[in-house]
Amino acid sequence: MTIVSPSMLSADFLHLERDIQMINRSEADWLHVDVMDGMFVPNISFGFPVIEAVAKVCTKPLDVHFMIERPERYISQTAKLGAMMMNVHQEATVHLHRTIQEIHDAGMKAAVTLNPSTPVSVLEDVISEVEMVLLMSVNPGFGGQKFIENTINKVKRLRQMIDESGSRALIEIDGGVQKETAPRLVAAGADVLVSGSYIFKAADPESVIKELKAL
Ligand code: DX5
Ligand code: ZN
Repeated sequence: MTIVSPSMLSADFLHLERDIQMINRSEADWLHVDVMDGMFVPNISFGFPVIEAVAKVCTKPLDVHFMIERPERYISQTAKLGAMMMNVHQEATVHLHRTIQEIHDAGMKAAVTLNPSTPVSVLEDVISEVEMVLLMSVNPGFGGQKFIENTINKVKRLRQMIDESGSRALIEIDGGVQKETAPRLVAAGADVLVSGSYIFKAADPESVIKELKAL
């Protein structure tokens, strides 16, 4: 069964509690929470006050994706939210190994995220330290973008690296995940699918989540 992490970025922010309750009722495994700073990516989403409110009603573990410069500044604040997973971009933190250690010391699972242009080879020396690798299949910053086809090759290369190293890291994909791309990603070796617009813009989001889980 595929792990499904719906992205809150595509929820209706005027009716956020209603949308979180839908996620709670659904078969979704996690809630994907996108934090943007307007520096690392050309957009600003929401910050801790909003996530704190969401954490109070959400019964699913939080998969928090930081698209910010130097995410290590917010490790303890993220742990206080009760987040299950903290995703940091390799491109945004200089001492990645230290950042991973600090995330673990704070009691969370650690994930490293790569932009579409960053090769998976940069992870060779940390792959056994992380619980998950998040491959961006669009340039981060916005929901509803077109899937970058080269991601399929990256998933295969990462799958091989993980299997050869004996690492137990999960492979998560974020961006343009929908009906056509999702099965191909799972066939290539993806374990976790993030999906925003495909789920939240659907007439029946719960059944879309069910379909993704069954892949
Ligand atoms: C984009 C975010 C994604 C976004 C995905 O920078 O990291 O999580 O919500 O949206 P869709 O699934 O619509 O491409
Ligand atoms: Zn994301």
